[in-house]
Amino acid sequence: MDCAVSKPWTRIAALFFFSVLLAPNLWAQASPNAQDLLRQMTLEEKIAQLSQLPGMPIPEFKEQVGNMEDVVRKYGAGSVLWVSDPKEINRLQHIAVDESRLHIPILFGLDVIHGYHTIFPAPIAMASSWDPKLAESAQTIAAREARAGGISWTFAPMLDIARDARWGRMVEGAGEDPYLGAAMARAQVAGFQGSQPGSLDRVLACAKHFAGYGAADGGRDYDSSYIPEEQMWNTYLVPFKAALDAGVGTFMSAYMDLNDVPATGNRWLLHDVLRDSWHYRGFVVSDANAVHSLIAHGYARNGQDAAIKAFSAGLDMDMASGTYLKYLSEEVKQGRVSMDQIDNAVLPILEAKIRLGLFEHPFVDEGQIPRVPNAPESQELARAAVQRSLVLLRNEQALLPLDKRQIRSIAVIGPLADAELDLLGMWGAMTKPGPTVSILQGIKNKVGGTVRVEFAHGPNIRRDIPSFFENVAILPVKEQPQQTPEQARKAFNDAVATAKRNDVTVLVLGEIALMSGEGASRSSLKLSGGQQELLEAVIATGKPVVLVLVNGRPLDISWAAEHVPAILETWYSGSQAGNGIADVLFGDANPAGHLPVSWPRNSGQEPLYYDHNRTQSPEDAPDFTSRYWDSSSNPLYPFGYGLSYTSFSYGNVAVDRAQAKVGSIVNVSVDVTNTGNRPGDAVAQLYLHQRAGSASRPVRQLKGFQRVALAPGEKQTLHFKLGPDELQFWSPVKKEWSVEPEQFDVWVGADSAAKLHGEFHLTP
Ligand code: NOJ
Repeated sequence: MDCAVSKPWTRIAALFFFSVLLAPNLWAQASPNAQDLLRQMTLEEKIAQLSQLPGMPIPEFKEQVGNMEDVVRKYGAGSVLWVSDPKEINRLQHIAVDESRLHIPILFGLDVIHGYHTIFPAPIAMASSWDPKLAESAQTIAAREARAGGISWTFAPMLDIARDARWGRMVEGAGEDPYLGAAMARAQVAGFQGSQPGSLDRVLACAKHFAGYGAADGGRDYDSSYIPEEQMWNTYLVPFKAALDAGVGTFMSAYMDLNDVPATGNRWLLHDVLRDSWHYRGFVVSDANAVHSLIAHGYARNGQDAAIKAFSAGLDMDMASGTYLKYLSEEVKQGRVSMDQIDNAVLPILEAKIRLGLFEHPFVDEGQIPRVPNAPESQELARAAVQRSLVLLRNEQALLPLDKRQIRSIAVIGPLADAELDLLGMWGAMTKPGPTVSILQGIKNKVGGTVRVEFAHGPNIRRDIPSFFENVAILPVKEQPQQTPEQARKAFNDAVATAKRNDVTVLVLGEIALMSGEGASRSSLKLSGGQQELLEAVIATGKPVVLVLVNGRPLDISWAAEHVPAILETWYSGSQAGNGIADVLFGDANPAGHLPVSWPRNSGQEPLYYDHNRTQSPEDAPDFTSRYWDSSSNPLYPFGYGLSYTSFSYGNVAVDRAQAKVGSIVNVSVDVTNTGNRPGDAVAQLYLHQRAGSASRPVRQLKGFQRVALAPGEKQTLHFKLGPDELQFWSPVKKEWSVEPEQFDVWVGADSAAKLHGEFHLTP
């Protein structure tokens, strides 16, 4: 057939039409060479690349450097953050690409922590799934949606080990354990960045907050961390190293003082560890305003001093403070900073832009924005992620799963039962979230018209001291309105009456989004704002009660753990929260989440973590009672704990040899059997203990895990490898990584209290 495009001239015209006129970025440049670009740049243009400009009005920034758009026009900009409106992104990008002298595109960064439009469970929940593949898939979707909206850099994953639930930011990471943290770190980096540099559906990841932020004194956000070097290497740095090995593109420095030197000006962290020891070649951005905050810390004398201290420590990009823009060029002119140092900092920023394909594709294709976020498979994955991350803490007399054929009516009660935005957590609400299914709605969706569902909100909950984030325009999460005592009393009585007149109560308690996250530390972990009283009154009705917790950290539920028959931890579960939670409540999904943190009995036990050292009077000594005389010193629920609607048994632990040479691999196997009558997932965990050595070693440490699906009655043999990576530790005596010829214990089981034991000896 003689079709039009077969004629040469029409073919040329068609080619031109398709490749040029329809190309989304008509006037995009081809990727330049970073070195060539660098050679053409003035000092001011270079310093602009070392600056990340705030996309919302910050008076201090304006005072320091003036209008941010003028900066972009005159010199360009390394990056802009906190802009998520694609139109605004394009507008600013046009200024950079069309009007600045060298046309270098801006890298737009945003906190895409656990989703952009489709919001997945918060990181602590994803870690509860013990399923790194799931985390990778979720971040792949987050990256695709964010990139379609013009964001090419996310400030995630957050890799801070958190061992004190008073610290509000525990919710943003993978919990207390370096091994689990490292697995989640690798998975997230792979999800965000993919393996193809320059893919237009991926974003640059950022390992933050480097490092030690989770050890804030007293759990108070931003307070100093004091962490000995051996703990840095063995615990706090481990997930960062894993992210680096997975190819993470950028690092963000932390806010706090680490051993008296702010992380943002800490040369040991940013240079000795990151560059010298780990050979990192990417760039480091500060946390927001952190360069300028070196003055507030009492570390820098003034802005000039802050700029030189941060820059010479190895901090390449100044987030939002304008300190580099104002002071760095003078430092070069005075000879305190060399042009080589500046070039070394600028180069990885230019390379990142090239790698991301920003020169070819600087603009958002606004046409495709509605298509990408509404892909049905994203919502499906979000729902599966909820199912896989919920942790069943208690289930007396198999109250769960609820059987909708046996129930005529359900009371759904509590200040978070009908919440939507709060289920996204603080970051989830900040990007461009789509609709959220509340828990009330999820239950209604599940039971259809067959079971009557009655809702009562109960008294509102609020922080005692309001969050400063409430006034941040880009954060839509808010406090619940203040009630008069009469209003609160009436809401309380209505809730109890509602429980009384229904067959079963699902009571949803916990923390609104602003109660967890940045600037959300707590001195008490109790259920706040009358929730404990409501819980006790609802239990007093004598009706069966399922407590559904929505929160960002373990809470003090010691009373509930004795009096409430079923407790389900849901964290902040994201867009599909209600549907996924209802799937588990009604048995369409079998919970298999396990705790990524030790769950305390009360806040007085914090910091609490399972891999502490043995003492001269260990917990298993015959005369040991408790280190506290007013409470047990054990957690309420151990690290790794989680129940299922079925049961599992672990047996036949086998270590393939009693003796092995340092450097070789020891194989451990164990049989896991589903001994119940429902299909379910077991999370098998392997813990290791070195009995003696050049330093005291923790009672046990996680060194392997596998989540496996088992049919009723099915048995699987699982295999674990223990090689130098698992057996080594950083010895404070030798000041190096070391595998020591010693006796080792191994335990395998369903949590960190596992008893099934094996052992082997390493020989020189
Ligand atoms: C401050 C937070 O500490 C950090 O986690 C975040 O990425 C930046 N602000 C940017 O929003």
